[in-house]
Amino acid sequence: MSITIVDHPMIKHKVALLKDKNTTTKDFSQLVEELAVLLGYEATREFATELVEIETPLEKTQCEMLSGKKVAIVPILRAGLGMVAGMQRIVPSARVGHIGLYRDEKTLEPVEYYCKLPSGLAERDIILVDPMLATGGSACDAIRWIKAKGGKRIKMISIIAAPIGLQRLKKEHPDVDVFIACEDRELNAAGYILPGLGDAGDRIFGTK
Ligand code: PRP
Ligand code: URA
Repeated sequence: MSITIVDHPMIKHKVALLKDKNTTTKDFSQLVEELAVLLGYEATREFATELVEIETPLEKTQCEMLSGKKVAIVPILRAGLGMVAGMQRIVPSARVGHIGLYRDEKTLEPVEYYCKLPSGLAERDIILVDPMLATGGSACDAIRWIKAKGGKRIKMISIIAAPIGLQRLKKEHPDVDVFIACEDRELNAAGYILPGLGDAGDRIFGTK
């Protein structure tokens, strides 16, 4: 597994705005979408292409286009939904699956409530999206579901990750590459990332 902290001034700037407690819900959700574009750009860098013949207004030429079945974008509900539109800006033809998980407030373990994924997962590149990787429980569970339904080529994009979550992901799913904007210090007793940005779902959807 590789962990890539995507190092770019625009990403750093947008993460700083996200972390600011005074950022409004509207700006927060827009920033999450913009960060998904920037992280998704890196996560798709090694997708396979094939030569195709194209006719320009002047002559025929060979170009490269994505090969194989359409990409699958899979958000972990709820907060992952905030990254879907950004990923779709890069891969507009992608199929979108959904995995519903929430963390039990006491055990911090994920509780599953929904799973609907595109068919033919084994032949698709799959990008799992969730802005927060804290204990890593939700990501590991979602990846287990994707694999159980045949998924093989899985990458994950996340905005902020805690060291413990990255370690868990590396141990449980060493074949999954992860692209993040920022690695933060640690978790607090309630499982929130410090310094973090608070509850990503609540800040995206304005539910606090
Ligand atoms: C958040 C976040 C991740 C999860 C990360 O979701 O969006 O899915 O927590 O924590 P973990 O790495 O410790 O599992 P939450 O459970 O708060 O649900 P929500 O998106 O519906 O608010
Ligand atoms: N989920 C969030 O939304 N924020 C955290 O800091 C940890 C998990």
